[in-house]
Amino acid sequence: MTLNAALRIRPERPPDLSRIRELNRLAFGGIEEADIVDAIRSGGGAVLSLVAVAGDDLIVGHILFSPVTLVPPVPELRGLGLGPMAVLPSWQNRGIGTRLVEEGMRHCVDLAVDYVVVLGHPAYYPRFGFLPSVSFNLKSAYDAPPEAFMVRELREGSLREHSGVVHYRPEFGGG
Ligand SMILES: CC(C)(COP(=O)(O)OP(=O)(O)OC[C@H]1O[C@@H](n2cnc3c(N)ncnc32)[C@H](O)[C@@H]1OP(=O)(O)O)[C@@H](O)C(=O)NCCC(=O)NCCS
Repeated sequence: MTLNAALRIRPERPPDLSRIRELNRLAFGGIEEADIVDAIRSGGGAVLSLVAVAGDDLIVGHILFSPVTLVPPVPELRGLGLGPMAVLPSWQNRGIGTRLVEEGMRHCVDLAVDYVVVLGHPAYYPRFGFLPSVSFNLKSAYDAPPEAFMVRELREGSLREHSGVVHYRPEFGGG
């Protein structure tokens, strides 16, 4: 059986939480992102939190989506931020991150999300349909290189009339 067939993506469950924390710590080499994931969940901001499970319930990957807001505000637009996302180091480069993003974006469509933003590797996310934020007249509240801040419109045209600064949940700090 290939890894892709054996791998399942499912929403996180309460018994997963300590393993998700450890996975983030190992993937990022520190606890900053693990703390952010825990704080967002505690604050009610974990709109979508999925795990990749291999074999007999081994959690090998995790992805989180939390609400973002535009300034100036556009109340009718629903946006989510993708991240943090992490795959256990020994399981990386086997398509698990790809499965997490693809499945996550499908859930976002089901949740009637208008757009998703990501602050991440400019070589990685365009393959999932993310475009540089400048294409949408959007900026990140963070002092990040513009090419690292990317956007995917899920409801076509939803961002056409809008511009502004995208703010993540306060648990991310800064911005
Ligand atoms: C980024 C991450 C989640 C990708 O998961 P993965 O399961 O290894 O990803 P996939 O197997 O689906 O895809 C592998 C591709 O990602 C690319 N990739 C991985 N890390 C990358 C990085 N730091 N910068 C650019 N590309 C990267 C690989 O080069 C590979 O590209 P290719 O398909 O063109 O060969 C994983 O590497 C990870 O946990 N990294 C540490 C934590 C992190 O940086 N999270 C993302 C924050 S935005």
